[in-house]
Amino acid sequence: MSVDVVCVASWNVDLIAHIPQPLERGQTQMAQGFERLPGGKGSNAAIAAARQGAQVGLIARIGGDDFGQMGLDLWAREGIDSQHVVRGAGETNGTALILVYADGDNSIAVYPGAGAGLNASHVQAASDLLAHARVVMASCEVPVAATQTAFETARTHGVLTLLNPAPAMPLPDALWPLVDVLTPNEGELLMLADATDIDTAAHQLLQRGVGAVVVTLGERGCALFLPDTAPLRVPGHAMQVVDTIGAGDTFTGTLAAALARQTPWPEALRWANAAAALSTQAHGAVTAMPTAEQVRTFLPSTPAAPVGGGRH
Ligand code: RIB
Repeated sequence: MSVDVVCVASWNVDLIAHIPQPLERGQTQMAQGFERLPGGKGSNAAIAAARQGAQVGLIARIGGDDFGQMGLDLWAREGIDSQHVVRGAGETNGTALILVYADGDNSIAVYPGAGAGLNASHVQAASDLLAHARVVMASCEVPVAATQTAFETARTHGVLTLLNPAPAMPLPDALWPLVDVLTPNEGELLMLADATDIDTAAHQLLQRGVGAVVVTLGERGCALFLPDTAPLRVPGHAMQVVDTIGAGDTFTGTLAAALARQTPWPEALRWANAAAALSTQAHGAVTAMPTAEQVRTFLPSTPAAPVGGGRH
């Protein structure tokens, strides 16, 4: 079977408590709500791409417990190929403990569980799937050796690679030239480049070999940096936010689906901005992730002005 987008994915069950404001050290607050919902940056992005109409396959390692089974059931409902998902018998699934504040912002602690055992051999077992995809994506929630192996295979076969560097962490020098598209938020970009403004930081990462840097800026939209090209800034959408969990993953997955369709950069970014904005309209990462039809209805019909550059 061939797919458009392969995601080297994390899968977490999100345990979400709603509290008024960030906890102080040692403080207890009574939560005003609690939810147990699907999460994991990789699974979230995969679902976002699938809802945009892409054929999506996962490479993942999940728990042998009920949370692991929840993932398999979810991907079946979303039409996502999970033949390269392996289960760690007797191992705990990934879990994210999330606090959402009254203003919609959040804090997240992720325990990767069985996902920490995803390694190069799991990725090599899926080399045929990778070789025939259009886009291979990953985040920093999966072990970097798995991502590196997947991106090496993708590069060998001319498949576009996309990394969401979240949560931000130091990455090996050898990984950067394998990344065609990087989608950090502003904080992640500044941390990865050790810079204080996004233009300097993006150019540092381009110099390390990244093909394109797309920095997400919340309701300010996003900015695209390509080598030797003026940055393209694409406006976002002011929304009444319910919560922002998974908005960055929605952006990444929607962009992956658009790039898999060879959508030009301005339109792909406009589409990803809109999907991310819509995803903030309900609790949890995937609840409000839109379909392509919902994005089409939301966006005004005027296409963004075309710009040059880009690898695709
Ligand atoms: O990006 C949001 C995601 O981060 C949550 O779904 C949580 O599982 C963590 O991985």
